Amino acid sequence: MSMPLQGAALEAAITASLATLKATFGDTAPEVAVVLGSGWSGAVEQLQDQQHLPYAQLPAFPQPKVEGHVAEITVGRVGQQRVVMLRGRAHTYESGDCTGMAGAIRSLKAWGVKLLLLTNASGSLRSHLPPGSLMMISDHINAPQRSPLTGLPGNDRFTDMSTAYDVELRQQAVKVAQTHNLVLGQGVYVWAVGPQFETPAEIRMFSAWGADAVGMSTVPETILARHAGLRVGGLALITNMAAGLSDEALTHALTLQQAKASGDRAAAFLGQLLASLATMESLRA
Ligand code: HPA
Repeated sequence: MSMPLQGAALEAAITASLATLKATFGDTAPEVAVVLGSGWSGAVEQLQDQQHLPYAQLPAFPQPKVEGHVAEITVGRVGQQRVVMLRGRAHTYESGDCTGMAGAIRSLKAWGVKLLLLTNASGSLRSHLPPGSLMMISDHINAPQRSPLTGLPGNDRFTDMSTAYDVELRQQAVKVAQTHNLVLGQGVYVWAVGPQFETPAEIRMFSAWGADAVGMSTVPETILARHAGLRVGGLALITNMAAGLSDEALTHALTLQQAKASGDRAAAFLGQLLASLATMESLRA
């Protein structure tokens, strides 16, 4: 992904992206947007009546530097629930800048999206969350204490983070998991910028802090989305035990391999959860 836009260029890109979203998919936005992280991209198969649009036509969205990487949105339905899915995400480790998803998130909000569900691949700090587990994020720890809101004007930059991860959505996820006999963990996600994996000492520290899973995304997006006034959900797919908690050396290949092995189950649960949101009245108020 190339360097994120800022200031007047960002505002112009959001205006242009909003116009393109409306012209392509209609004035009425889906209530729900999902960012598909590593291991989750198969979840687009859950969408009926798919329409696609590459990020290249949405200037506020992160522009991929490497050709061949999927960077597009897909709009469709899961049952009765309209959903927009985002494949392709800007990570802080790519540029050092943690604002890379600001334009995309603000465009979705301007269109009328109400809830942003963030998915990711994570390392586990807990033995009851082995690789392959799904964990609903209940809260996060911004370990690097970096903010995508740095430098913004206005009192709304002092964003309340006390219930950042939507309580009603978490309850709904627990219900859906029970209905389908699926074990769904709940826990605290800690952000590590990466791209190197953590050291065992860092993992012991995070564990003492109360973190249950660790990863390199999600937290900046949650902050941006809460600032924009969106409801937020977080769903982590555990791909490995974190550093020092297993004998295996951590590699990107290993996390991708585990993400692939569990991807179908994760996508199926995501589909069930999204379908169930058609009955959530607060999304339609
Ligand atoms: N650490 C950080 N990010 C990750 C991990 C991990 O162990 N696994 C998947 N993403």
